[in-house]
Amino acid sequence: HQPIRIALLGCGVVGTQVARILLHERRSLARRVGAELTLVGIAVRDTTVPRDPAIPTDLLTADATQLVENADIVIEVMGGIDPAQSLIEHALASGASVVTANKALLAQQGPALYERASHENVDLAYEAAVAGAIPIIRPIRESLAGDNITRVLGIVNGTTNYVLDQMTRHGLTLDTAVADAQRLGYAEADPTADVEGHDAAAKAAILASLAFHTRVHLDDVACEGITKVTAEDVAWATRSGHVIKLLAICERTTHGVSARVHPALVPTTHPLASVSDAFNAVFVEAENAGPLMFYGQGAGGAPTASAVMGDVVTAARNRVLGARGAGESVAADLPISAPGDA
Ligand code: NDP
Ligand code: HSE
Repeated sequence: HQPIRIALLGCGVVGTQVARILLHERRSLARRVGAELTLVGIAVRDTTVPRDPAIPTDLLTADATQLVENADIVIEVMGGIDPAQSLIEHALASGASVVTANKALLAQQGPALYERASHENVDLAYEAAVAGAIPIIRPIRESLAGDNITRVLGIVNGTTNYVLDQMTRHGLTLDTAVADAQRLGYAEADPTADVEGHDAAAKAAILASLAFHTRVHLDDVACEGITKVTAEDVAWATRSGHVIKLLAICERTTHGVSARVHPALVPTTHPLASVSDAFNAVFVEAENAGPLMFYGQGAGGAPTASAVMGDVVTAARNRVLGARGAGESVAADLPISAPGDA
């Protein structure tokens, strides 16, 4: 099979690790896919800033549009809405498969993008957009497609889990812990998205849409972050046998679908209480499967790159076979509780 041309949009925390895997694992990836995966270029804002020595400078370009036009698979790890959205649309329109980690974009523009991918008969994959390395999108979309999911609940933001954990175990202030999370590559470009709960809300919208076969937009998710959590709250929680965790809760009830994000008191005996650092944990409850639990690294370059690369290999195999992976299935537009009702 002809080599598969890969365009990488973004060379930050995640993109650097994706490039490293594509370049260092070239031979074994080719064996797994049945074709060479050739990294043809990496789009960045500024080609002159010093980067990881693993990144060949001749691959860097500031012309993302031109790069997209010459690719079979486009990996979008630049983040933000614009120009990520137009570049993804351009890629899909040119017949490229797209892999993205951009939950902010998917929670707002997901349905239009999935429709576009379906129309062009190409893959749009986003395992890395929710809970870092944890396989959660595919299990919900594919493994549980024959069951009825009733609830998805858990810790889906690594930064806030890290911050709350540092406040609880080491007495750090929220600001100091956020600065550490930024340094460790867990936080969004603007960490307000993490601490205000918007990142977890975007993930809740994606999970609820998939789990309940409906369309849940970011604006449908009731959201409270961790900025009001004080050292006194943390100390009180500890004294009463609890820890504070930022939870995302998506439920299907007789009235429809609800999704919300807020800090919660979790008893120290509960499995979620022992989720430390930037780890995430997601519980899924389905009528026939019963309860399932998913746990792993929820943020960071290498863990997220693992999820991205899983999608890249699948999309590449599909191209070799002339096939397309599972798409989104919207069975019903279920009533969705207004954020204020939660
Ligand atoms: P970074 O800020 O570290 O990297 C962003 C990269 O994109 C940089 O290389 C930047 O270029 C490039 N970029 C940004 N805007 C443009 C533009 N307009 N044109 C060209 N290049 C551009 O982000 P992360 O790697 O942390 O995150 C990337 C995506 O992955 C986001 O959607 C994020 O939400 C998601 N994600 C991140 C995780 C994490 O743990 N960090 C985990 C899961 C998902 P330059 O280097 O020149 O500034
Ligand atoms: N900022 C995000 C987090 C990255 O901390 O969970 C992973 O999606």
